[in-house]
Amino acid sequence: MALLEGLGLSKRFGGVKALDQVTFSVEDGAIVGLIGPNGAGKTTLFNLVAGALRADSGKVVFDGQELTGLTASGVCRRGVARTFQVTRPFAAMTLMENVAVAWVNSPRSEGSGDWHHAARDYLRMVGLENLAHIEARHLNVVQKKRLEIARALATQPRLLLLDEVLGGLNSHEIQQAVDFIRKLRDDLRITIFWIEHVMGAIMGAAEKVIVLDQGQLLTEGPPHEVVRDPRVIQAYLGD
Ligand SMILES: Nc1ncnc2c1ncn2[C@@H]1O[C@H](COP(=O)(O)OP(=O)(O)O)[C@@H](O)[C@H]1O
Ligand SMILES: [Mg+2]
Repeated sequence: MALLEGLGLSKRFGGVKALDQVTFSVEDGAIVGLIGPNGAGKTTLFNLVAGALRADSGKVVFDGQELTGLTASGVCRRGVARTFQVTRPFAAMTLMENVAVAWVNSPRSEGSGDWHHAARDYLRMVGLENLAHIEARHLNVVQKKRLEIARALATQPRLLLLDEVLGGLNSHEIQQAVDFIRKLRDDLRITIFWIEHVMGAIMGAAEKVIVLDQGQLLTEGPPHEVVRDPRVIQAYLGD
């Protein structure tokens, strides 16, 4: 069953088509990869789902309800959280405070409860518990990506959109991150839609991969089939 559907989504920036009639679905409980060369339109697709941009045409349906037209916070309230490719922590706030802001504003916390406790739980989940009281500006790139995930989780999503969270990791760390994201999906019973440049990671983690190229849906299918597809190889080689 599809938890998320994008139907005929199009987006132009001026005269340039960033997305052209893209239709896709993300199955409930799955890890679905979104790949494609630089500039293919992957982040634009996330922006349309997350309410950061408005589609010129088409619609987004989440759990049977249309998201199209909602603001970013409206989408978040429905249970969709995202991380940003370029991380955006509150630099002068501690990690605890960064996560607490996301948690306090989440629909299910109702602004109540013990925010210290909640924030610490999410930091522990991403392995940043021991840095809870330092300011976010002191984190390195990899730690900032983890903080992004903690902040997204603190909004208690049913669907998590991950935008290139593996940048800067070595191969051992990538394997750890893949295991971590699989465990997140299993433990929290969430659905994951994941943009990633690191092919090996997506191969190991996703049940389905969607490929975009120049704003269009190139193909979709199981990862081991998609990576052998000559059109996919050509799209990457041409990059
Ligand atoms: N805000 C914007 N204004 C103008 N062009 C944009 C904007 N955002 C993205 N684009 C263009 O749209 C295309 C798709 O970008 P993007 O979705 O960021 O690609 P990807 O994430 O796959 O690398 C690119 O050609 C990019 O330059
Ligand atoms: Mg991108």
